[in-house]
Amino acid sequence: MPFRDLIDFSDIPAGEWDELCSLARSIRRSPHRYSSACAGKILATLFYEPSTRTQLSFQAAMQKLGGTVIGFSDPNVSSVSKGETLRDTIKIVSTYADVAVMRNPVEGAAYAASLYCRVPLINAGDGGHLHPTQTMADMFTISDEKGRCDNLSIGMCGDLKNGRTVHSLSKALSSHHGNTFYLISTAELEMPEFSVRLLSSGDNRVVFCRTIDECIDKLDVLYMTRIQRERFASESDYRSQAGIYVLDSDKMSRAKKDLIVLHPLPKVDEITYEVDDDERARYFEQAENALYLRMALILTLCENYPQKTGFREIPTRPAAARYCSNPMCVSNHERYLPELTFEKDGKRYCRYCEHEC
Ligand code: NCD
Repeated sequence: MPFRDLIDFSDIPAGEWDELCSLARSIRRSPHRYSSACAGKILATLFYEPSTRTQLSFQAAMQKLGGTVIGFSDPNVSSVSKGETLRDTIKIVSTYADVAVMRNPVEGAAYAASLYCRVPLINAGDGGHLHPTQTMADMFTISDEKGRCDNLSIGMCGDLKNGRTVHSLSKALSSHHGNTFYLISTAELEMPEFSVRLLSSGDNRVVFCRTIDECIDKLDVLYMTRIQRERFASESDYRSQAGIYVLDSDKMSRAKKDLIVLHPLPKVDEITYEVDDDERARYFEQAENALYLRMALILTLCENYPQKTGFREIPTRPAAARYCSNPMCVSNHERYLPELTFEKDGKRYCRYCEHEC
């Protein structure tokens, strides 16, 4: 069955992922052919957290398809500042729009919103949890550049604890084979246990590194990330982690000739300016690919689901329900949400934020 909402990259069935990639390539080749493909359609962009690139690229994507965009980029100027619940905002906005995209600082917010949204909902980042449209760009760029997402040596470097892009990418790559993942971080910013378990499943392998030097010569892909300042409890905690990992020309001189360097952007100080001019730096192409993939996604969802089918309102949480143990989980912020969990390998996880219960 085709997917309706994109909360997690794994919502896209394998066959549909190939179709989305072909559509994105076709849009990249001849964008004019698609310039009125979404004429008359409205995209709602609900950004509860600052964003430049993602928001602009969704806006540009819809406009290049001939559609229009409504929404907010600062919840302080919307009814959210008056105390409106996520559920009410989503219910109303989804009567105005044909497709909605939401970024929210709270983990699991996108899944929660999708329960009440009458039109397809795209997760543009939910706290430190997931960022599936970035993952689409990452997976597409890796297969475009390397011809595959299997049997590769892939380094992920920086804030592996708080970075939602690496969590999302780890989930997507975990269904591939024969990869070795070099996780380069400080002890404080290591990849969460859940993602490490995913990455080391099947015939994939995980190697923990404290420096880029330990593995740079082995890598086919190096995914650099920014230290996520906004997720630290204090400025001094952030300062203690900032500037530790810097990819410079010296390190690049020891890397493979066909290495590709990716970054979800924005980058701060983790890549020096000279590296931007190295042809192995592919992050600007990666960002451009994200635009074509978002166009392909919006077009697919608008065509498949003029109205979300199977929508049903779920019951309000009973007063005695337990809340998730993760303080950043949406169920601790939007108290009407029902308790939803799932079981995997004998353990129970929160359906919203995927933390172990
Ligand atoms: C990323 C994000 O928001 O998680 N950026 C993006 O989507 N363009 C990465 C980041 O902010 O570090």
